[in-house]
Amino acid sequence: MSTNIKWHDHNVSHEQRVQQKLQKPCILWFTGLSGAGKSTLANAVDAELYKRDRHTYLLDGDNVRHGLNKDLGFTDEDRVENIRRIGESCKLFVDAGLIVLSAFISPFRSDRNLVRELVKEGQFIEIYVATPIEVCEQRDPKGLYKKARTGAIKNFTGIDSPYEEPESPEVYVNTAELGLPEAVAKVVSYLESQQIIPAL
Ligand code: ADX
Repeated sequence: MSTNIKWHDHNVSHEQRVQQKLQKPCILWFTGLSGAGKSTLANAVDAELYKRDRHTYLLDGDNVRHGLNKDLGFTDEDRVENIRRIGESCKLFVDAGLIVLSAFISPFRSDRNLVRELVKEGQFIEIYVATPIEVCEQRDPKGLYKKARTGAIKNFTGIDSPYEEPESPEVYVNTAELGLPEAVAKVVSYLESQQIIPAL
């Protein structure tokens, strides 16, 4: 880090931004294998929150890798840096008073815990999209499992790169057992129970 930099305090405080939006800002961190349904669920939760006039933003794996993180690949090192940058971005959104939804494989427990530590207690909500790999592989929406099995893609999560399951996620969703509306309801009712959003 450069030494000639200093932190600036702003005229509009975090508390004022939160007051204005009438919600508790936080990170909804969706983690799970490729094809587990993270983006689908995050999108549907986002739509429900928008319908309820909540102020949100959605960060999604494939999209962020087109811009902010387009210089990163899928080695362990690059995945760590991917999640570090996303975590710092999420922190900025939380500071802005938003509920930020992030949908990334984020395979390493230590990286997810680092993001948890970037924000205050209760502001990091880990949502484990725990779809079994057999189901993800059967869905294979982008044909990537097929390519990984033939060796055309290396370091594919769940095949030749590890996925470390969350030990105590705030919300657990198995999309092989739960339909999309039920999964959305499970996440939203958790948010209500924590008074992150008001109950209807
Ligand atoms: S993460 O591991 O660094 O968190 P991220 O969520 O950003 O991954 O990106 C995952 C997406 O990239 C997958 O949904 C898939 O479409 C694509 N992808 C391409 N190559 C790989 C790979 N080797 N392993 C996992 N996903 C890959």
